[in-house]
Amino acid sequence: MKQRVLFVCLGNICRSPAAQGIFEDKVIKRGLADRIYTDSAGTYAGHRGELPDPRMRRAAAERGYELTHRSRPICEDDFYNFDMIVVMDDSNYERVSRLAPERKYLDKLYRMAEFTTDFPDYSYVPDPYYEGVEGFYLVLNMLENGCENILDKIETEL
Ligand code: 4NP
Repeated sequence: MKQRVLFVCLGNICRSPAAQGIFEDKVIKRGLADRIYTDSAGTYAGHRGELPDPRMRRAAAERGYELTHRSRPICEDDFYNFDMIVVMDDSNYERVSRLAPERKYLDKLYRMAEFTTDFPDYSYVPDPYYEGVEGFYLVLNMLENGCENILDKIETEL
């Protein structure tokens, strides 16, 4: 069975689709595409159906990532359908944890900051929505670091 990883942020148009694109790129480069499935979702449904924010798509494209995900809200079933749910900040964590069908499902829930080892001063991935381009670059730097470490962890468990 495939390992299934879900990335979650607020709008599902900046941080989590970027994490999905970066993670998928690493999965393909490691030859694990038939073993790992990746998706992303948001705790806020207001951008449902939209492509990622143009600023994030542009910043990601500069590094070779094409982001084509369409925003969707997270739902309770995601706790059944995914092995690992990785949120970007404490607010995401609180909202997602409230959707868990039972307490034991919280074992699937992680913060991206647990994996961003090169950024010890950050306990969350900052929302770039109201920031300039540097905010988007910071998010991409953090996600490249975190996704590499998540994949290292999963690969040892495959
Ligand atoms: P994201 O960024 O959670 O990284 O997708 C945001 C996207 C939209 C909004 C806030 C943050 N918003 O307020 O609409």
